[in-house]
Amino acid sequence: MKYKTIHNLPLPVIGFGTWRIGGESTPDPRTDPASMNALRSALEIGYTHFDTAEYYAGGHAEELLGCAARESKINRDKLFITSKVSPEHFDHDNVIKSCENSLRRLGMDYIDLYLIHWPHLGMDLEELFCALNKLVYDGKVRHLGVSNFKLKLLKQSQMYSGTPILTNQIPYSLPNHTYLENGVIEYCQQNDILITAYSPVKFRSIRVNKVLTEVAKAHAVTPFQIALAWLVTQPQVITIPMSFNSAHIKENFDAADVELSAEDMLLLGNAWKKTE
Ligand SMILES: NC(=O)c1ccc[n+]([C@@H]2O[C@H](COP(=O)([O-])OP(=O)(O)OC[C@H]3O[C@@H](n4cnc5c(N)ncnc54)[C@H](OP(=O)(O)O)[C@@H]3O)[C@@H](O)[C@H]2O)c1
Repeated sequence: MKYKTIHNLPLPVIGFGTWRIGGESTPDPRTDPASMNALRSALEIGYTHFDTAEYYAGGHAEELLGCAARESKINRDKLFITSKVSPEHFDHDNVIKSCENSLRRLGMDYIDLYLIHWPHLGMDLEELFCALNKLVYDGKVRHLGVSNFKLKLLKQSQMYSGTPILTNQIPYSLPNHTYLENGVIEYCQQNDILITAYSPVKFRSIRVNKVLTEVAKAHAVTPFQIALAWLVTQPQVITIPMSFNSAHIKENFDAADVELSAEDMLLLGNAWKKTE
């Protein structure tokens, strides 16, 4: 596994997402066996960064992640856990409560990285960061970050946060260049903010785009691996694909080893301009 270092913190370029682990927006215990299998596979394969949120399966994703982590007997300090507070809990007391509830569900005594899941109109960012800073001060959270933040809010967050904004978690993939076009990615790269690309392989044309399939063939890997490699070859970009399939989980992990040339990067960066 390769790492990107941000504020002296090395982070694996490929982590594991947990959206749909344990259900979608509410718990669905029928998916527990498949969810636990996915988490166990990821831990066995060697993933150490897990991305979750209080929103995922109404907290059940955190419960299953905590359970799989304990079962693996991997030392807590070898794992890096990201979780997120949802917009309905953005007032000071509820931020603290949300984090404590996440810790209880995870069965852990700190969260490595705690994110504002997505912004909402009229939120009081100063109050929000006051609570988040307290969580860092109290040792319940090690690092702070944001998700789905555009430039204005990102700059305000830097102003209010007592610690550096470690990451902005955003949708970024071969066909989705929204945050390239709005200047957020360049700003993050110039201001020591890690870009965590979510939904990196969730796009329809991944199996059929001609450039992607040709580059994959040349490297003797899958188009999914090329889609991930394209992201993590870029400065300060890591990604967090999710899968229930242990072969896919391994394939995604191994994508960190794919070496793309400057020419591959250019071809892939332009490959969706004509097709989507
Ligand atoms: N901050 C936010 O607002 C936000 C929003 C969305 C997501 N996220 C985070 O980002 C993570 C990843 O995003 P995502 O789950 O939306 O999308 P994703 O990881 O890009 O795509 C997941 C889908 O791709 C398939 N897949 C994954 N690897 C594959 C492979 N090697 N070969 C074939 N199919 C593969 C999976 O199916 P199989 O199970 O069949 O492999 C699954 O259907 C989430 O789990 C979550 O942690 C954050």
